[in-house]
Amino acid sequence: TGSVTAAQRAVTGEPPSSRMEAPGKVNLFLAVGPTRADGYHSLATLYAAVDVREAVTVSFAPDLPEGHIDCTLEVVPGSLVDQQVERGSFDPVSVPMDESNLAVRAARTVIERAGGLPGGVRVHIEKAVPVAGGMGGGSADAAAAIKAAVELVFAVTGRETLVSDSLEIARGLGADVPFAMTGGAAIGTGTGAELSPVPVSSPWPAVLIADDGALSTPSVFSRLDALREQGQAVTPRDEDLQVPDELLGALAGDPGSDSSALSLLRNDLQTPALDLAPHLVPRLEELRMAGSIPIVSGSGPTLIALTRDHESARILAAHLREVGAHAVPVVLG
Ligand code: C5P
Repeated sequence: TGSVTAAQRAVTGEPPSSRMEAPGKVNLFLAVGPTRADGYHSLATLYAAVDVREAVTVSFAPDLPEGHIDCTLEVVPGSLVDQQVERGSFDPVSVPMDESNLAVRAARTVIERAGGLPGGVRVHIEKAVPVAGGMGGGSADAAAAIKAAVELVFAVTGRETLVSDSLEIARGLGADVPFAMTGGAAIGTGTGAELSPVPVSSPWPAVLIADDGALSTPSVFSRLDALREQGQAVTPRDEDLQVPDELLGALAGDPGSDSSALSLLRNDLQTPALDLAPHLVPRLEELRMAGSIPIVSGSGPTLIALTRDHESARILAAHLREVGAHAVPVVLG
């Protein structure tokens, strides 16, 4: 990561440019409360970053008109997204490159708040986290773009952006974006944007299993609302939205030492996600039979399977790939 320094630029003659990374995430715990007046749900979640990262480069483009943002995307070779492209289940062309792209909006917001630049910018996304997979890939793009744009504005104009302003911009772009700015592990409350970091002793081993389909987050929340209205799911009260201390303790301790804490993993979006993507049900069962502890990641359809150790994660991922799944061993936190 990091930008080209002023000294390097003087040598190369290239316009300033900054490349920053941000991680995808899983939710090891996600308790969803009632719908709020603004349509969002109050929640309590335990986020953990995954070592699958998006990268965004924001470059000054004096050849483009002021305010113009050109966006391009590249799929990282060998990534889960690359595996989806090979199987024909994901077409990079389907990702919007206009203002509906969170990285473009992030770069624009940072630049406008800083009073603009004397030209346009180019935004380039290196995509490794599945799109609409429940892993916060778009949020990671937004977070990386904020950081890169902040650095670029400084390189071009010398104007600094306060960290508090960056976080406010992040909150404005989506509930998961502040976590993608910080990474590690954190409790999220409110809509998920209010963070308190939690310690992780050693990163937890796991396997990520990407899906050929996609689920839209709003539709999974709506399905949860519908299930609750039909009495098929209960709504926790706001005061019951708490990440269990035992789970935090296990994260702060030795990963393999407290396997009972793993029974506390919870995702209230799992039932509605399985309703919308029932083919995931037997897959979860297979992962349980293989000795791992699987849950749906966020709003799905990506699955995350926690394993006893890194070797088990490697073996499970290799086995899953042999039977045609897109699986990679990862570490969390
Ligand atoms: O904040 P973000 O744009 O990522 O959220 C996507 C959608 O997920 C929201 O429009 C809303 O439908 C749903 N959501 C929610 N409650 C939250 C977070 C997200 O209902 N706390």
